Amino acid sequence: MPKDWKTRLIHTDARVPEGFRSLATPTYRGSTVIFPSAEAVNETWNQYEAGYTYGLYGTPTALELAARICELENGYRTMLAPGGQAAISLIDFAFLKAGDHILVPESVYTPNRRFASQVLTRFGVQVTHYPPDVGAGIASVMRDNTRLVWCESPGSITMEVQDLPAICDAAHRAGALVALDNTWSAGVYLDAIAQGVDITMQAVTKYIAGHSDLLLGSITVKHKLTWEQLGRTQQLVGCAVSPDDCSLALRGMKTLAVRLKAVEQSALTIAHWMAGRPEIERVLHPALPSCPGHEFWKRDFTGSTGVFSVVFRREFTKQQVEGFVNALELFKIGYSWGGVTSLAVAYDFHGAKNRPDYGHRLVRLSIGLEEVEDLKADLLRALESLK
Ligand SMILES: Cc1ncc(COP(=O)(O)O)c(C=O)c1O
Repeated sequence: MPKDWKTRLIHTDARVPEGFRSLATPTYRGSTVIFPSAEAVNETWNQYEAGYTYGLYGTPTALELAARICELENGYRTMLAPGGQAAISLIDFAFLKAGDHILVPESVYTPNRRFASQVLTRFGVQVTHYPPDVGAGIASVMRDNTRLVWCESPGSITMEVQDLPAICDAAHRAGALVALDNTWSAGVYLDAIAQGVDITMQAVTKYIAGHSDLLLGSITVKHKLTWEQLGRTQQLVGCAVSPDDCSLALRGMKTLAVRLKAVEQSALTIAHWMAGRPEIERVLHPALPSCPGHEFWKRDFTGSTGVFSVVFRREFTKQQVEGFVNALELFKIGYSWGGVTSLAVAYDFHGAKNRPDYGHRLVRLSIGLEEVEDLKADLLRALESLK
């Protein structure tokens, strides 16, 4: 059919050679998916069964990232979300309804706790916070209508490692699902699904992406039924991911092992060194006995990553602790950990209900890929500036 140039802008006959092969996953963009015939049109969300139907459910770039995370976490399938927090809220939307009860640890990532207490309660879900060291005692706070038990191990900022097998056992006996924020282990140092967890999520933003330049989340499930319930909700909530971000995360994933090994070693060196400093009361690093739940880390994890906290001695004022963070040069001040740059953030727990008595004395560190002796020198200079 003859075509005007304006039509050719859209329907081209231009051809390029075929057969390009490279080591990078192509970045497939697309909202519209083309069907071969009128009869083939289909809006099914499950691309594994229906083939590709709509960009919302992921292009091959997103599905490859999801499948690779699933392989690492030993799950049935993985779904991606636009960020870690979107993954958390999608799990809650998918598995809860009015009249249900949810259990959330006091040590959980704060926006996870707030989503439960500020949003889920508006939809008639009852929310109870429980102490992270509850273990098998979780049975005593379960109710007939408890449907979901959240865990995060280690917890955000205060780093308590949880007894996951004991919690999973009690939850399953009461008919509840267990969801775990598995971001700290990068999904590789804790085989959560083998421990009994039904749903794991990660902020892919952190270690998998690894370069502080994108936001993504993942949800990995153990069972087909859970996958179907999740997929039906994702279709209606409509949170899509960018193929460009997925492509960067796929690139980040290739160096995950070497990055994790480096940050693990540097973080352990710094944690042990800080534990011996006169200014520090306690180091909250899961691989050190001073961390609550250290015995569960030893039993259940195969490694540690680069995020831990230090608690200053009681005589240090809030101004001094903030002064320590401000005096750091290599450590930048910022929230989103897991990148190549070391970070430090001071937290104030005064007024935080049911949290440990660390007051304003806690600083969370995320160790990056700088030379460890330079990081130690930076920390030492900042500690000595407190005199
Ligand atoms: C443990 C944990 N879970 C979830 C999130 C949320 O991830 P995102 O920033 O991708 O929304 C964060 C972010 O800081 C986190 O630290």
